[in-house]
Amino acid sequence: MADKNAKLTVGGGEHGFDVLDGTIGPSVVNISSLYKDTGMFTYDPGFTSTASCESKITYIDGDEGTLLYRGYPIEQLADHGDFLESCYLLLYGDLPTKPEKEDFVSRVTYHTMIHEQMSRFFSGFRRDAHPMAVMCGVVGALSAFYHDSTDISDPRQRMIASLRMIAKMPTIAAMAYKYHVGQPFVYPRNDLNYAANFLHMCFAVPCEEYKVNPVLARAMDRIFILHADHEQNASTSTVRLAGSSGANPFACIAAGIACLWGPAHGGANEAALNMLSEIGSVDRIPEFVARAKDKNDPFRLMGFGHRVYKNYDPRAKIMQKTCHEVLGELGIKDDPLLDIAMELEKIALNDPYFIEKKLYPNIDFYSGITLRALGFPTNMFTVLFALARTVGWIAQWKEMVEDPSQRIGRPRQLYTGAPKRDYVPIEQRR
Ligand code: SDX
Repeated sequence: MADKNAKLTVGGGEHGFDVLDGTIGPSVVNISSLYKDTGMFTYDPGFTSTASCESKITYIDGDEGTLLYRGYPIEQLADHGDFLESCYLLLYGDLPTKPEKEDFVSRVTYHTMIHEQMSRFFSGFRRDAHPMAVMCGVVGALSAFYHDSTDISDPRQRMIASLRMIAKMPTIAAMAYKYHVGQPFVYPRNDLNYAANFLHMCFAVPCEEYKVNPVLARAMDRIFILHADHEQNASTSTVRLAGSSGANPFACIAAGIACLWGPAHGGANEAALNMLSEIGSVDRIPEFVARAKDKNDPFRLMGFGHRVYKNYDPRAKIMQKTCHEVLGELGIKDDPLLDIAMELEKIALNDPYFIEKKLYPNIDFYSGITLRALGFPTNMFTVLFALARTVGWIAQWKEMVEDPSQRIGRPRQLYTGAPKRDYVPIEQRR
């Protein structure tokens, strides 16, 4: 629905713009003709008030603290479903019937191996390379091995590439971990479910049988669900922008991985655990909270705050519950970092600065403690985030490619540099 009831008076004239309403959430003012009508651009660094696209995949209500995948609340999907069911939902738009689910699981399962020659690709990296650096390189290299699914104009190739990405990310992530710790790669197992297979590829060794703990596999699967998609966040926007030029899906996902790595985004789970370790004890919390509030100190509480959520991140609540489940299953009675995290949360949520700025724990606040308890080193945390977010990136990429109004993304700027001036020969320069 649209009508021109948004008026802008600028440059001596009044201009009307359509207001478009979504199913739920804020309406938008369609300003695509603004430059043609007024000769002016909008200006919104960080895109705090800008909708970059129309999407049917994920909806976030930041004030309410709700998150819906294709309309289903994250709490219900995390409690009742599994990750591959959420993958199907994000990709196809509806929950699968039993036969559809079985077929999808089978198609993913039989794409989990990677081209054998790719395993030699890892040996080009230093052993102490950050696993996210390895992920950027290896995922980008997938397009060098799977040419038969890079023609994005072919719906069949788009779906094969999507399945390959979802299926192969756990294998590549586990190989990045094994390479980092100097252990042999472990091949995927078709008799294990998605999360159990991933844990097996990470923690099994050739010398003995490795039994995956089903409680931990369920927790891993739920953590994947929580990280699967999140509307137009920085890495998803990166994937969409890369894809808008027609780049192949593997290259687009590699771009998303690179963006996710930043500590303000997916790198925050690694940074949050490092921060808790740096705080070291509950009695040092006030010192760090003071630093987080100090405008002259760049320090921020990692795992706190969010561009959209101005309420508790619903994923953080589920993550905290999962954290207690995992620690309980492992018999970890008192994890000092968890004690610090819970005390820090309590102090921050009662501090006027955090209340006024609506800063709450986000998904990265408790994930690090949980992932460390599961056996992962800190530098693998963002790799796990990338593994889970791959389905969201792919679903958003597919939606963008299949959108008939899709064009290459090409923002403009406010230029404040030097006006036109003539070249000065070097002898005449002062
Ligand atoms: C993810 O977008 C997504 O959906 C991302 C994500 C996903 O699933 O894809 O949810 C995953 O990236 C979660 C966020 C993980 N990042 C962190 O935990 C890093 C710490 N958080 C901050 O860097 C920050 O909160 C951001 C980056 C998350 C949000 O930044 P914004 O929206 O640009 O907000 P801001 O930096 O302008 O902060 C608003 C105010 C500022 O104070 P003023 O300038 O108004 O005085 O709040 C302050 C900030 O200084 N602030 C913090 C803070 N976060 C914001 N102060 C202390 N500690 C913090 N963590």
